[in-house]
Amino acid sequence: MKKIKLGVIPGDGVGVEIMPYATQVLDVIAQVHGGLKFEHSWYPWSCEYYLEHGEMMPKDGLDQLSQHDAIFLGAVGNPNLVADHTSLWGLLINIRRGFKQTLNIRHAKQLRGITPMVINPNGFDLIVVRENSEGEYSEVGGRIHSGEDEVVVQNAVFTRKATERAMRYAFELAKTRKGHVTSATKSNGIVFSMPFWDEVFDQVGKDYPDVEKRSAHIDALAAFLVSKPSEFDIIVASNLFGDILTDISAAVMGSIGIGPAANLNVDGSYPSMFEPVHGSAPDIVGKGIANPIGQIWTGKMMLDHFGETELATQLLNIVEDVTEAGIKTPDVGGKATTSEVTDEIVSRIKQLT
Ligand code: NAI
Ligand code: MG
Repeated sequence: MKKIKLGVIPGDGVGVEIMPYATQVLDVIAQVHGGLKFEHSWYPWSCEYYLEHGEMMPKDGLDQLSQHDAIFLGAVGNPNLVADHTSLWGLLINIRRGFKQTLNIRHAKQLRGITPMVINPNGFDLIVVRENSEGEYSEVGGRIHSGEDEVVVQNAVFTRKATERAMRYAFELAKTRKGHVTSATKSNGIVFSMPFWDEVFDQVGKDYPDVEKRSAHIDALAAFLVSKPSEFDIIVASNLFGDILTDISAAVMGSIGIGPAANLNVDGSYPSMFEPVHGSAPDIVGKGIANPIGQIWTGKMMLDHFGETELATQLLNIVEDVTEAGIKTPDVGGKATTSEVTDEIVSRIKQLT
């Protein structure tokens, strides 16, 4: 029996609503597999936890999580209770940095039964590989003086190691797919880091002669991602550029509620973390209509991560069968509830046996 120890953090808002459904889907998948079992430990770390304890997670929180094979996270944030930078840095970023989750991988694909932002006769299927540990999201900088003399410096940090790691991952991934990598750059405006980024892309690219390569400036690339997503296979991007591109690519699919993501620890020294693209969606919380697909697809990425690619592919296929059958939440034009969508997915998984 292959056991996967999961640290489950539902978090806030719709994260709490969706998580029981998503873990149910994983358990049913494991049953169908026969030789697989998820053991989950649940952690209540959230904004409500913060109100009680004065911190988003306990001091030994990372130690507790390190005993698991992976972390399955819902969403973090309740701006009515805790300032967003406190909740995000206190939990999410703490785990990403503490566990050296240096790559953020986000898949976007035109799903059957969900109308994308722009109709593409040939559909689209792309993955953004985002550098997740440095770049524009650095704590290097400072503020001095005040009033009209105030000076603020925020540095972007690019190391050869992290840049190469992201590029290499992107090229390796492209070899298993359509064989095409686009690099998000801005070397016409950002004169040190981005020419360096381009150089590393060219250098690493030489090791992958069979992969088609292209560089595009981030502004044009963002527009192109909306109008012609079918032109892309893998996009490799810095932390900030990748963050923005992946919210766009989720929206291009038809709803931010369906986008999946993985924060990968590449050398296996710590667990990786799997979390959907969307946040805690305070505007729809309590209504029972949150789309569970982002979290379920995230579970699919986790199955891929643990080598269960066949079941992973079947799971995404079933999700598409369900949306194609019109069983969808309101954000993607349906009338179904979170539980109705999940029930349908679960009953179709059971038919696989
Ligand atoms: P959001 O992703 O929570 O919501 C944006 C819009 O998408 C809302 O209209 C919401 O109803 C909709 N939406 C999101 N998830 C959905 C789902 N599963 N089904 C149906 N509709 C869905 O982003 P927002 O409003 O900017 O942030 C709300 C809170 O979430 C903030 O505290 C923010 O910091 C946090 N956040 C957390 C993230 C994370 O944990 N990774 C990522 C983004 C935001
Ligand atoms: Mg984002």
